[in-house]
Amino acid sequence: MQHETVLVIDFGGQYNQLIARRVRENKVYCEILPYTVDLDKIRKKNPKGIIFTGGPNSAYLEDSPKISTEIFEMGVPILGICYGDQLIAHLLGGKVEKGDNQHKEYGKTKIEYGESILYDGVDSDQVWMSHTDYISSAPEGFVVTSKTADCPIASMEDTKRNIYGVQFHPEVEHTIDGDKILSNFLYKVCKVKGDWTTTSFIDDKVKEIKEKIGDKRALCALSGGVDSSVAAVLVHRAIGDNLTCIFVDHGLLRKNEGDDVERIFKEKFNMNLIRVNAEDRFLGKLKGVTEPEKKRKIIGEEFIRVFEEESHKLGRMEYLVQGTIYPDVVESGLGDSATIKSHHNVGGLPEDVDFQEIVEPLRELFKDEVRNIGLELGIEEGLIFRHPFPGPGLGIRVIGEVTKEKCDILREADAVYMDELRKAGLYREIWQAFATLPDVKTVGVMGDERTYAYLVGLRAVASSDGMTSDWYKIPYEVLEKISSRIINECDGVNRVVYDITSKPPGTIEWE
Ligand code: XMP
Repeated sequence: MQHETVLVIDFGGQYNQLIARRVRENKVYCEILPYTVDLDKIRKKNPKGIIFTGGPNSAYLEDSPKISTEIFEMGVPILGICYGDQLIAHLLGGKVEKGDNQHKEYGKTKIEYGESILYDGVDSDQVWMSHTDYISSAPEGFVVTSKTADCPIASMEDTKRNIYGVQFHPEVEHTIDGDKILSNFLYKVCKVKGDWTTTSFIDDKVKEIKEKIGDKRALCALSGGVDSSVAAVLVHRAIGDNLTCIFVDHGLLRKNEGDDVERIFKEKFNMNLIRVNAEDRFLGKLKGVTEPEKKRKIIGEEFIRVFEEESHKLGRMEYLVQGTIYPDVVESGLGDSATIKSHHNVGGLPEDVDFQEIVEPLRELFKDEVRNIGLELGIEEGLIFRHPFPGPGLGIRVIGEVTKEKCDILREADAVYMDELRKAGLYREIWQAFATLPDVKTVGVMGDERTYAYLVGLRAVASSDGMTSDWYKIPYEVLEKISSRIINECDGVNRVVYDITSKPPGTIEWE
């Protein structure tokens, strides 16, 4: 089924993905396309509406991002946000000027709304502004529909042509009624019905996969992470036993993780799952290696080798299932063409395994949508909301040489840490938390005995995508409990420290 589609044309704004997510939250399917997109491609997608994003440029400069004015003649409703709004003004004969101190606005701003269908049911007068340039005169045919103390044209519209522009950011939470405004645009201007729901997605996808794969066979590299798990269960629902999953347990997983994966997919979902226990093999390769990049490379290469060996035993599979999600597609800049995760070495595509085609059932979805689909498919919450875990696993959380003894100590400490975060109700609030084991021993005293044992580092970060992050402020009482439990319960540890570095300059992982 062809879903109603709204297109977000990206002019380089930092909130482009957020706009798309807000549209989807309103039950409307949405795609992000670069401003360089061919108008024919837009026409082919038959959009119900188009949104221009913000961006860091000045619309009146020669080489700033533009789009052909033909787009205004397609008869599709358009909403411009921030730069998008200014671009509409500039392209249609209004005036955009460089703001002096008086016209620049940044942050929460009071607005005076006038009459507009966009403002139906809107009560709050707080919006989020972030602009230097401003529109000093609206194009012909437009009426001004709001203003602020510093911005004479905070929004404008031409209802005849269905073109709307807002200087503020309705997609940002600080615009209190932003969601209402977007929903008015979608439902009252674009007149969508709202056909994008998790159930409709699952039904459509299952049907599509069935048609595509038919009775051929597919292979999936299951990592136990959210994306590959949801992709596997979805494909399994469509083709059942014709899907085989290979789960490489490299021995660098968290406590009970391997067994959990086996229990969930083999027992609960009754899937063809091959678990390869390759701990000795990986630890053997890592013996004596201390340099982080070298460790990553060894783990990545070994992973692919193990995967290849297992898949060769199965004979030729026509399809390979991958858990690629929409941010991977957008960030790689590939839009519609096939994309393969390249950033992460483990879980990447083995090069000389022979497939006819890649199946990526989640490539249209944002992470929170993937989670919702997973829940609806019956995957347990513990897995769906598990923090991100790097492919090389504990191999880069045991700092320096990786040994079984160190991995075991780290697994125990990490499990205590996660247990306490869950008990304190913090686990889901934190984007990612984990323990690390630096290759450091320190002196301590327990009872009357001198101890000389390992140091455990705790990391917890707040982030939205892992690209930047702040260290998470865990309350002292919780930290205290974690520390004393780790020292009491984990043999070989006598000291705990908390990492208070943000990213940048630090990275989230220690290696
Ligand atoms: P850094 O340490 O670069 O991590 O700040 C950012 C996010 O990426 C995860 N990460 C990885 N994920 N394979 C993965 O699948 C990797 O090699 C890898 N290295 C880092 C990290 O856990 C964090 O969420």
